[in-house]
Amino acid sequence: MHMHKFEKIWLTFGIGCLVVFLSVVGVSAFYLGNKPASCLTTINSAKVDQTKPFDKPGLHKVEGKEWDYELVFVASTFSYNPAQVKVPLGAKVKVIATTKDVIHGFEMAGTNINMMLEPGYVSEYTTTFDKAGEYLVVCNEYCGTGHHLMSAKIEVVK
Ligand code: CUA
Repeated sequence: MHMHKFEKIWLTFGIGCLVVFLSVVGVSAFYLGNKPASCLTTINSAKVDQTKPFDKPGLHKVEGKEWDYELVFVASTFSYNPAQVKVPLGAKVKVIATTKDVIHGFEMAGTNINMMLEPGYVSEYTTTFDKAGEYLVVCNEYCGTGHHLMSAKIEVVK
């Protein structure tokens, strides 16, 4: 089979790139232990209520961590627990959330917090609440007939 010189160069370049990229991904995954960000922590979705920290939803002060508070949410059709929570202004908070049943969303309107809550997985996001006010948390994954009713409120207070 006759192949044009440029075609050979291009094929070599393409295969070379593939080898380089697969090596980078391979070293990152198997040697450095990196995983996709959304799949770090798993949970038995049938035992959410008995599993820490989801046995006590709400805001908790923590010591010796990079964040000051942990804000724990449990989502289920068609509500969040807690439905309403107060957070001190300026607090560095790790939001930790999961779902007991189907896929739900966790979008804090007006901020860049937007997580998907998947059964069997824990979603986390660390942020600093530096603007006082009331924030609406809404579900942005269609989860059933009560989807549009599913919301919670975070109050950032001085
Ligand atoms: Cu929960 Cu939509």
